Amino acid sequence: MSNNLLKGKKGIIFGALNDQSIAWKVAQKVVAEGATITLTNAPVSMRMGAIKQLGQELNAEVIAADATNLEDLNNLFTKSMEILGGKVDFVLHSIGMSLNVRKGKPYTDVNYEWMKQTFDISAISFHKMMQTMLKLDAINDHGSILALTYIAAQRVFPDYNEMAESKALLESFARSFGYHYGVNKKVRVNTISQSPTWTTAGSGVKGFQEFFDYSAKMSPLGNASAEACADYCAVMFSDLTRYVTMQNLFHDGGFSTMGMNPSILNK
Ligand SMILES: NC(=O)c1ccc[n+]([C@@H]2O[C@H](COP(=O)([O-])OP(=O)(O)OC[C@H]3O[C@@H](n4cnc5c(N)ncnc54)[C@H](O)[C@@H]3O)[C@@H](O)[C@H]2O)c1
Repeated sequence: MSNNLLKGKKGIIFGALNDQSIAWKVAQKVVAEGATITLTNAPVSMRMGAIKQLGQELNAEVIAADATNLEDLNNLFTKSMEILGGKVDFVLHSIGMSLNVRKGKPYTDVNYEWMKQTFDISAISFHKMMQTMLKLDAINDHGSILALTYIAAQRVFPDYNEMAESKALLESFARSFGYHYGVNKKVRVNTISQSPTWTTAGSGVKGFQEFFDYSAKMSPLGNASAEACADYCAVMFSDLTRYVTMQNLFHDGGFSTMGMNPSILNK
């Protein structure tokens, strides 16, 4: 069902890897709501090919960009404006990857070079993206920028490893850049803190099944799905949220407010 919430709007979606990706669902949702978009992912992820199918399905050009590389970002925003016929109205940053998690390093024995790369990919890329957009004047006044995050930025989830600090940094960039983008261009910047979701990045976390089940039981509404996250993103890109900025918005079925849930104690 479409409400034409994004009719006439233009956007860029980072991070659709396969049909489980949250960004994949967001891309489908925003197009169903009337937007025109370009899609982007790292060259190495694009080789897997699935994003090209999504591009065909949504009539969206796919542009390769490593989100840590300023030249790639410059090219992405310049090309997107050419293709879409002007500045964009919204951008989704849906990027996360931890080298120490991927290589099985525990939090108390991390490789610091990998940690720096993790921060660059998962958090600093968000700053790089916004700085590039500001320099190119690539987003319309009152536009909306979102990044996806997780509650491990505020609370301890031991197996989330260095991604916890990545998310804390990411959320802080949303607040600080949100100030500058707000006063400069009336652009809003927010993060959505999503429930555990079965995706390539999500299921890479050690013990993800237990993590997922615990969160589902703890949350009064259960875990929010990727499709529900896409719905929330569409609202945040729409004109219905013009004065929401510099916020970390929990989209988690109530998990973040819970202290104890008897349904877990009874088990
Ligand atoms: N899955 C969850 O449980 C969950 C929960 C909360 C937040 N999130 C966040 O949602 C976002 C999307 O993750 P997902 O769960 O859909 O997994 P995903 O694996 O489908 O998406 C992660 C994306 O990051 C991209 N990426 C990695 N390095 C990149 C680089 N250098 N340049 C550009 N792109 C790069 C990957 O290609 C991939 O498309 C991430 O920020 C993740 O941390 C996920």
